[in-house]
Amino acid sequence: MSIAVVFESMFGSTREIALAIAEGLAPYGVVVTANVNDPRAMEAVHSANLLVLGGPTHVHGMSRPSSREEALAWSQDPKKDLALELSTPGTGVREWLKDIGHVPHLSAAFDTRADMARLLSGAASGQIQHAMANQGSRQVISPESFLVTKESKLAEGEQARARNWGTSVGRAMEQFIHH
Ligand SMILES: Cc1cc2nc3c(=O)[nH]c(=O)nc-3n(C[C@H](O)[C@H](O)[C@H](O)COP(=O)(O)O)c2cc1C
Repeated sequence: MSIAVVFESMFGSTREIALAIAEGLAPYGVVVTANVNDPRAMEAVHSANLLVLGGPTHVHGMSRPSSREEALAWSQDPKKDLALELSTPGTGVREWLKDIGHVPHLSAAFDTRADMARLLSGAASGQIQHAMANQGSRQVISPESFLVTKESKLAEGEQARARNWGTSVGRAMEQFIHH
């Protein structure tokens, strides 16, 4: 199986989660992990059976150019101690999905979001899955959120949870392929 794990990340947390998910998925196929701003993401997705796509939750959903600009401003605030990823602000999951044209037959979505009630935080993953479904892709597993602290740092234990979720995605993918 050919699996693409594609992510957007402003401050690094979603990248760390994506890499952990890819580790969990490794026994299930050839996994390519790439940022939405990396041309390899586009290449990988065109030959993939499964796309696992994730990004940070901005204003209750997928980022927009304006929210990515806001994140850039956060990174310039010395009180926040947030370093911007090299690829940012760049493009986001929302725009990338429109650009790729073809979405693999199978998909799964994840996000990072604040550690608070989901009703208050919102979650990008629901929107991401919805956008992939609109392009004809089938979800193999429910969208999942991984939590960051108030300071936008990855919460404790989330990488391990992401690895396990990656394994669950792999198992779910096999169910779809064998049945
Ligand atoms: C402009 C902006 C808006 C945000 N809005 C939300 C939000 O509505 N809900 C939430 O849970 N987190 C929100 N956050 C926090 C992000 O989810 C958090 O920064 C992100 O998960 C960190 O991932 P990254 O390090 O990969 O960028 C927001 C962050 C920014 C910069």
